[in-house]
Amino acid sequence: MEYSDKVMEHFINPRNVGEIPDADGIGEVGNPKCGDMMKIYLKIEDNIIKDVKFKTFGCGAAIASSSMATELIKGKTLEEAWNLTNKAVAEALGGLPAVKMHCSVLAEEAIHKAINDYRIKNGLEPWEDRFSN
Ligand code: FES
Ligand code: FES
Repeated sequence: MEYSDKVMEHFINPRNVGEIPDADGIGEVGNPKCGDMMKIYLKIEDNIIKDVKFKTFGCGAAIASSSMATELIKGKTLEEAWNLTNKAVAEALGGLPAVKMHCSVLAEEAIHKAINDYRIKNGLEPWEDRFSN
């Protein structure tokens, strides 16, 4: 298995690590099989993601995916952030090994949860995604 230089770079020097104490939306997801977890914090103003931070307990691919995903959604509208797929995150990282693709799904799912957390707190209907059942 080989990681791209970009994955290694984001793993060694991840962007936007931390928490936002007064976050407008928080999304936490976990994979019950391996216990890996990801938490995303969003600061939202006028439908724009003003700030985003994450904490990930997982492998290098999960950390690099979180880092890249936060970079890609910062300054974007909630709709744009919602439409960021794990495939797009993996592509931006120069690809992920096939067995590591599921790790990038954690980031997409955590962003969706954080956006819906914000929507519910503001009396809006949560959006539906491929993770809803
Ligand atoms: Fe748990 Fe990859 S093995 S998310
Ligand atoms: Fe569990 Fe990647 S996050 S193996």
